[in-house]
Amino acid sequence: MKPYTHLIDIKQLHISELLHLLDKAQTFKNEYSSGKRQYDLLKDMTIVNLFFEPSTRTRISFEIAAKRLSATIINFDLDNSSAQKGETILDTIYTLQAMDCQMFVIRHKETDMASWLAKQLIKPAAIINAGTGSISHPTQALLDTLTIKQHKKNFEKLKVVIIGDIIHSRVATSLIEALTLLQTKEICLVGPENLLPEHPPLKTSCHLKLEPTLKDADVIVALRLQKERMETFMVDSIQSFHMKYGLTEARVSLAKPDVIVLHPGPMNRDIEIDDKVADGPHSVILDQVNNGIFIRMAVLDYLKSKLYEAKA
Ligand code: NCD
Repeated sequence: MKPYTHLIDIKQLHISELLHLLDKAQTFKNEYSSGKRQYDLLKDMTIVNLFFEPSTRTRISFEIAAKRLSATIINFDLDNSSAQKGETILDTIYTLQAMDCQMFVIRHKETDMASWLAKQLIKPAAIINAGTGSISHPTQALLDTLTIKQHKKNFEKLKVVIIGDIIHSRVATSLIEALTLLQTKEICLVGPENLLPEHPPLKTSCHLKLEPTLKDADVIVALRLQKERMETFMVDSIQSFHMKYGLTEARVSLAKPDVIVLHPGPMNRDIEIDDKVADGPHSVILDQVNNGIFIRMAVLDYLKSKLYEAKA
């Protein structure tokens, strides 16, 4: 059987693959600290960033990761592309494959877009999901778990609290899948009832009140209210959301003294997270951004070897 050359979601990964990607990313990071900044590993690869939704950190970190591995990377310019003349994404990819582009990093509002494209391809290529719909964002989950692993050794002892707009968050969905794979002890989802999943994923529990769940928390993840994915605005008011769920210093102090605070970005300061928390001693938010580069290097390197196997 031909190897699977895509990264569509966390569910496709065996625990050994997930751990391999985290270890490889950590190795790249350690080597970067000791001065190794450039690799030849992807020098024959051309990668295209196909972002159909806005992005700052994800797109740029894929670009930096590709460049550190000596790949050629192209940022598809959606507004000036033939997509504006009605070309389908699949035809765009076939066109790019005809120019020998082999890897496609996709961000799209449709949940199934990455998996659908992966199934349609005729010639070998790697599709990498950089965030689709409200369900899947695997490289974000990998960088989040790498960040947690750097601070907390054993997932089986951890209590993780994820706060806010859970149902619209592909970050939360993928992170829950990764934490579950790593056998995290407790995963609490907290938010207004209409932003919590109707059927909570296995191994999670849902809570309306924030303060009691913060007791003994090792990791707190704050999420943005993802208004662009809501048909109508789903909270009473920004102020009431902040009052009940905003991450303040006082609330962080209810958790374990060595708690770490994550946020995938972009942050809406003073709504889901206060300045003093975002920039405070528990915050690892910029570490997440930095780890994103090494995770994407690990993913690109891993899929390149799968592609070579597929072509062999
Ligand atoms: C997230 C996304 O796009 O899903 N951002 C990211 O990739 N770091 C989260 C968000 O939009 O709130």
